Amino acid sequence: MSLFRKKNNFSRPIPEHIAIIMDGNGRWAKKRSLPRSAGHAAGSKNFKDIARYCNKIGLKYLTVYAFSTENWKRPKEEVDNIMNILRDYLKDAKNFKDENIKVKFIGNLEPLADDIKVLIDDAEKESQNATGLHLNIALNYGGRDEIVHAVKRIINEGIPESEITEQTVCDRLYTAGQPDPDFIIRPSGEYRLSNYLIWQSAYAEYWFSDILWPDFKPKHLETAIEEFNHRNRRYGGV
Ligand code: FPP
Repeated sequence: MSLFRKKNNFSRPIPEHIAIIMDGNGRWAKKRSLPRSAGHAAGSKNFKDIARYCNKIGLKYLTVYAFSTENWKRPKEEVDNIMNILRDYLKDAKNFKDENIKVKFIGNLEPLADDIKVLIDDAEKESQNATGLHLNIALNYGGRDEIVHAVKRIINEGIPESEITEQTVCDRLYTAGQPDPDFIIRPSGEYRLSNYLIWQSAYAEYWFSDILWPDFKPKHLETAIEEFNHRNRRYGGV
């Protein structure tokens, strides 16, 4: 038996890093006359299923958008609800280790509640030696905010202008050391990036669909990946 048994049935190698905008929870709930909180609960369950599937097929990096720097504008009740979903998820932090998933939170974590910061720290530490999927959860994340943060670090480190390259910036992003996402998926019928990974997505391929996030299942991801595998990526060449 080969030691290098393939983990999936895709016709070609899968992307290295997939980033997903988990959009459409509110509309999913509205369609069912349910409160928005029910949409976020369904979205959270779906997120766990998709992360597990990505780990199963041998994906190296998955980045999900859980809460943006702009999402604080939502009613307090909804913000509290999303934070509570996150708390529950993090309290199961040992699951990451059991599933061999390495979790990392990206974004400005400073304004979060203290207990969430502790849970995040525990989850990251608990899973740091996992060798499966690297799961980035973008929380209080904004792409412009991330770039400003990187620029401030460059200035504080006193790096001379002549030494600043693209790599200098990359090394100071929340995703430092990780490959850029090669495939960005946004369900729910919106066709924009919404301040997500704006530096890292320079050469990414995009996949949009009308499916609302709680309905976005592994079979849809499989279809998207097969399509990605037939795109012709030229990176500015011919
Ligand atoms: C976008 O849908 C969704 C969010 C802003 C929240 C996403 C959060 C989760 C899926 C839970 C995350 C949980 C973990 C554990 C990472 P929307 O509310 O903007 O939907 P709408 O556009 O239909 O109103």
